[in-house]
Amino acid sequence: MSTENLELRSCITSAGQLELSLVASALAPLQPDEVRVRVEATPINPSDLALLLGPADLATAAVGGTPERPIFTATVPAERLPTVAARLDQALPVGIEGAGVVVEAGEAARALVGKTVAVAGGGMFARYHVARAHACLVLPAGTTPAQGAAAYVNPMTVLAMLETMRREGHTALVHTAAASNLGQMLVRACAQDAVPLINIVRSAEQVAILRALGATHVLDSTTPSFRADLVEAIATTGATLGFDAIGGGPLAGQILGAMEVAASRRATRYDRYGTSVHKQVYIYGRLDLRPTALDASAGFAWGVGGWLLNHALARSTPEVIGGLRARVLAELTTTFASHFAATLSLAEALQPDAVRMYGRRATGAKYLIDPSR
Ligand SMILES: NC(=O)c1ccc[n+]([C@@H]2O[C@H](COP(=O)([O-])OP(=O)(O)OC[C@H]3O[C@@H](n4cnc5c(N)ncnc54)[C@H](OP(=O)(O)O)[C@@H]3O)[C@@H](O)[C@H]2O)c1
Repeated sequence: MSTENLELRSCITSAGQLELSLVASALAPLQPDEVRVRVEATPINPSDLALLLGPADLATAAVGGTPERPIFTATVPAERLPTVAARLDQALPVGIEGAGVVVEAGEAARALVGKTVAVAGGGMFARYHVARAHACLVLPAGTTPAQGAAAYVNPMTVLAMLETMRREGHTALVHTAAASNLGQMLVRACAQDAVPLINIVRSAEQVAILRALGATHVLDSTTPSFRADLVEAIATTGATLGFDAIGGGPLAGQILGAMEVAASRRATRYDRYGTSVHKQVYIYGRLDLRPTALDASAGFAWGVGGWLLNHALARSTPEVIGGLRARVLAELTTTFASHFAATLSLAEALQPDAVRMYGRRATGAKYLIDPSR
């Protein structure tokens, strides 16, 4: 076991430069209830990219340093610096979740030594991660770190979305950017739970991906019939709740408008204010940074809000959360399986070509880092 840690850090300087580097540090002693995990697989999720790359212009990407300790740089245009004012000149650890093997443990956590565990602790783009024993998800025997690397963020989000739906009295869902890794999990989870799901994607290839998974309602937002098709799918399923990963542009408003048209078909009399059916869209991602455009088609019974996994879990009891985690573990290689385009070492993850590849946030292009390489 190495005596030093190596950790990827992301810093945006007040001079407008993004710097990604690998920082070495001595291994900290463990508390009795802590374990040291040798991280062997950690996914680069869209929310990691937001912290890793910020608003840098990747066309200016360059690399310096040495092959073992590269330093990636890119320019952050001056007009974008105010959006990251709170993080300037701080070398921040990156990586929300990952999995690996417990190589050392405090007195009270010895039973975990040798186990393969998943952790969601932040700073996972590192050779070692220190976690409290109770925060480790022990993976079933035979599960590889790569299979467990994404056991937290997307699976728990899918299940928490379904919890939100039930708690708020909805019975069906609309989902956007639906061919994402998370979207594919949602297709499988909704099929299992018999929850009608309308998937919105933006290409014929993505329609094919979801149809192959058995999805019933898959709509391509780039086709001329999209808005009419959306109304019909909503009328069929009764969906009054949407989860929107895109955030910017007209789609959230179009979903609310289509829900209102579908609801008005069931109205027994005309009301100038629209129907009283409450329609809700939660923006849970910002794949499009443009402003959210809402037109006037939704009547007055609607809401648009932000939605974050951590906030949703904070509204749940420990028993409910324990139940969700147990389901994720039981279905880790089926419903909640993730697929990765490639695996990189920490140093490889700082090469400009690699950054441009995983920075696309494209369908099927999720990357894994193996810091133990
Ligand atoms: N709020 C929360 O708590 C929470 C938790 C987990 C995940 N999330 C969010 O969930 C989303 C999916 O995550 P993931 O890990 O499953 O992503 P992923 O596998 O990397 O897939 C990203 C998907 O987004 C699509 N996309 C990218 N930019 C787009 C745009 N401007 N308009 C429409 N589609 C676009 C891509 O399609 P193309 O190939 O067409 O580009 C791809 O299908 C992300 O936005 C992430 O931030 C939020």
